[in-house]
Amino acid sequence: MLNNSGLRKFRPSRVSGNSAIAPEVLQELYGQGACVCPSSNRKSIFVFSQSRPFDLVELEQLLESVGWSRRPMRRVSRALDKSLLKVGLWKHDQKFPRLVGFARCTGDGVLEATIWDVAVHPIYQGSGFGKKLMTYILEALNEIGLERVTLFADPGVVAFYESQGWTLEPRGHRCAFWYAN
Ligand SMILES: CC(C)(COP(=O)(O)OP(=O)(O)OC[C@H]1O[C@@H](n2cnc3c(N)ncnc32)[C@H](O)[C@@H]1OP(=O)(O)O)[C@@H](O)C(=O)NCCC(=O)NCCS
Repeated sequence: MLNNSGLRKFRPSRVSGNSAIAPEVLQELYGQGACVCPSSNRKSIFVFSQSRPFDLVELEQLLESVGWSRRPMRRVSRALDKSLLKVGLWKHDQKFPRLVGFARCTGDGVLEATIWDVAVHPIYQGSGFGKKLMTYILEALNEIGLERVTLFADPGVVAFYESQGWTLEPRGHRCAFWYAN
């Protein structure tokens, strides 16, 4: 699927307005550029971060929770290292932030990017996090100058992307795959 559409502006919650997390705590726990993800959940705070390191076991548990099979840890680690962008959605906790959403992008960093591994933990699905995660990623890609973005959608989630302005590959026959085995 392609995204050439105008980008929605991601609007992070003001951290100082409701003093949900002090800016210095936000930065210390989640790294430079982290921001609170707007949420109607009054009990918990959710944070987007591109720089908080991932615990690979926790990441694989998240991806398994949405039904994907486990992948060799070392290869996942290398794939993350080589990704253009990786975003975690964290349920804030002062001591043990929990990873509840994830997505990453690969690409040349100039012309093309592809989004992979978009997942929101089943407990938190249906609350708008998936949509906000996509908006956040597209804006982050836009900031580095990328305007043509692709992804591969499972049949069950095509409508999720279409509702956000993604279009199916225009002629339906330009896409080809090659698998080593
Ligand atoms: C797909 C996924 C990321 C969506 O996350 P989410 O937090 O549940 O989505 P949101 O709550 O932000 O939903 C946003 C909108 O999309 C709709 N939507 C959510 N999942 C959908 C689906 N599978 N098909 C069609 N629409 C969907 C919602 O109803 C909502 O509509 P609204 O704006 O009219 O209320 C999540 O369901 C998930 O992790 N799925 C398993 C992994 C997966 O398939 N990832 C995609 C890989 S291609």
